Amino acid sequence: MTETVEQIAQRCGVVAETGHTMAEFTTIGVGGPVAAVLRPSSIVTMGRLLAELRKAGHHPRVIGGGANVIPGTGPFTDPLILTKGIKHGPLFEGSRVRAGCGVVVKLLVRKCVDRGLSGLEFAEGIPGTVGGTVYMNAGSYGGQMSDVVREVSWFDQEGTLQSREIAPEEFSYRRSPFSPGMVIVEAVFELTPGDPAQLEVKLDEVSARRLKSQPPGKRSAGCVFKNPPGDSAGRLIDVSGLKGLAVGGASVSMEHGNFIVNRGDATSADVRRLIDLVKQKVKEKAGVMLEEEVILWD
Ligand code: EPU
Repeated sequence: MTETVEQIAQRCGVVAETGHTMAEFTTIGVGGPVAAVLRPSSIVTMGRLLAELRKAGHHPRVIGGGANVIPGTGPFTDPLILTKGIKHGPLFEGSRVRAGCGVVVKLLVRKCVDRGLSGLEFAEGIPGTVGGTVYMNAGSYGGQMSDVVREVSWFDQEGTLQSREIAPEEFSYRRSPFSPGMVIVEAVFELTPGDPAQLEVKLDEVSARRLKSQPPGKRSAGCVFKNPPGDSAGRLIDVSGLKGLAVGGASVSMEHGNFIVNRGDATSADVRRLIDLVKQKVKEKAGVMLEEEVILWD
């Protein structure tokens, strides 16, 4: 008989938690019930869990900060593995900094600036974790993760731990060389020495720009659509007159057209219907077919 998720988790020293919904683990706060939630606290345990779950025929899903995922209504029978427990570091080695996949980007940026290391200031205010933002090649205000990430360790689809140097050319706009089934567990960033006081000023500038143009303090998944070449999805949604457009508890942000905000009681069905509606209307009004940046999980 196939081993259950609970049995495998127990053997790996992890509790299989029940009674959770995906909404708890996404920044936009939507998504249906999930059968089992696992929180490994080390790379070794993550490796064992992935290998043994897959060997027994399970298909674990992995989530970091949940800032770019919009899960469906479920129920999700596959186990959900959270990376947030793998949070060693940031460990400084000269101008390099090593961090576990679960380290929150905000903390990483803070520690680097305190140390007088420059390169990650662009990421101030990006929600999410090291693993997720490297996987997505997250970016903002003239920078992206590929500018600074130089080494990555990950579990491949076979569950083998891989580690290698990585070059900026291997990444592109919101895309890394990593694909579904690969689980990033650690990254090393190369930074340059800078004056902490000046770096602090840069952080303040980035925060102020973000506060002015993006919905502060509201639950969202960041930008929903990729920018089409040479244009801005937010601008296209705005000129199509869609700010404030709502489906159920989800609405297009009044501050930035490319954000969908959860007004409190949004469901994943509301968010997805709104995504489809925005795509349809932008196609009609601006002649552009937008493509999702967020990952839709079913
Ligand atoms: N604009 C509008 N109306 C809007 C939104 C934007 O007219 O509702 C105009 C702005 O005035 C500006 C232009 O569109 O002239 C570009 O806007 P913005 O500077 O806000 O940048 P963006 O292209 O919309 C991108 C990233 C953001 C990142 C910002 C800042 C994408 C899809 N979006 O947005 O990233 O924070 O630049 O660098 O690449 C994300 O990826 O989740 C994200 C939020």
